[in-house]
Amino acid sequence: MKIVHISDVHFGFELLKDKVEKAIKQINEIEPDLVVLTGDIGLWGVHHEFRDAYETLSSIKSEILAVPGNHDARNDGLKYFRLYFGRTRKRVKVDNAVFIGVDSTLPDSDEGYVGDEQREWILSNVRKNCINIVVMHHHLVPIPHTGRNMNVLIDAAEMVEALAFHCHGGVVLAGHRHVPYSTKLLRTHVIHAGSLSSYKVLMPDNNYNVIEFDEEAVKLELRFIDIGGVEIGKFKLKPEIPESIDKYRKLTSTKKVLFISVKNDLRTKIAEYVFNKVSPDNMYAISCGTSPSKSLSEIAVEFAGKRGVKLTEPKKLTEEMLEDADYVISLDENVDVRGIDEVWDLAIPNSYEEALKLCKVIEGKVKELIKNLLLS
Ligand SMILES: [Fe+2]
Ligand SMILES: [Fe+2]
Repeated sequence: MKIVHISDVHFGFELLKDKVEKAIKQINEIEPDLVVLTGDIGLWGVHHEFRDAYETLSSIKSEILAVPGNHDARNDGLKYFRLYFGRTRKRVKVDNAVFIGVDSTLPDSDEGYVGDEQREWILSNVRKNCINIVVMHHHLVPIPHTGRNMNVLIDAAEMVEALAFHCHGGVVLAGHRHVPYSTKLLRTHVIHAGSLSSYKVLMPDNNYNVIEFDEEAVKLELRFIDIGGVEIGKFKLKPEIPESIDKYRKLTSTKKVLFISVKNDLRTKIAEYVFNKVSPDNMYAISCGTSPSKSLSEIAVEFAGKRGVKLTEPKKLTEEMLEDADYVISLDENVDVRGIDEVWDLAIPNSYEEALKLCKVIEGKVKELIKNLLLS
């Protein structure tokens, strides 16, 4: 599969008409399977820019997948984008590749933002056995040699991690800074196109990318409109996910532990108390019973009183508690609850002294549990 990647065509007074006309002829000679246009179709988001762009780019014989850029989102311009270039987010499948185009613009702002909802949408469209290619205008990292006005995505870190985990070592196509560039971020290959036809060109000449995909690699050529092409390189697709980022993600996530017993009036209350006393800030425990007692046992009341702490009253297990819990420990073998991760075989104490001994045992178990939860 071969595609042409163009960007920042900037119809309006920035447009170099002769460049766009030459580029269209060249693209038609290349006969790509798809042309990807990564935004900044116009300059001010006004109607005539989109209309001129649509009429001119209609001479390209291949299908065009376009996403909007920050200039297109000026002055409520996305309504004209939709009129001529379709939805601002879209999915196109070509051979074994899925192109997932997203709108990284914010109204009347040069900043880029993908957002949780759109990120979920991206992830719902990726396919494990395909090459996943995310298409957007803004970039995930600053591009060198472009000056200080960088406009990296506000949520770039979230995007980079989501791509690393879920896009199976795919590709991101972007534009925006009018400088072509290519780099690998963790396991995602990021390719930027320069400007096809704006007079603001920070290179020897206006340019576009010709990108060939096979099952294992992506081959990138930078094509200048008047001075020819430069082979940039061939990059491996689908490399392994680096182990380190998985560890960092686990270390920054929160963990909720649920202790379950039948009555929730003594052992689970002590376990909850001990866990919350010794656990780090990202962990928290609650406890509950399948048939909870009406109140705490006398031993539990004495245990709390002598420590000057308040134990909460027995609670009934709910579906929500189970769904919210990251780790579930039962202190009774016979509870009929799904998804129990571990059973702690601890006898019910019959006296305050026995409760003290139990507290020590639980403390040892809790410390072991915390160690395991850190990287789970
Ligand atoms: Fe631009
Ligand atoms: Fe831009």
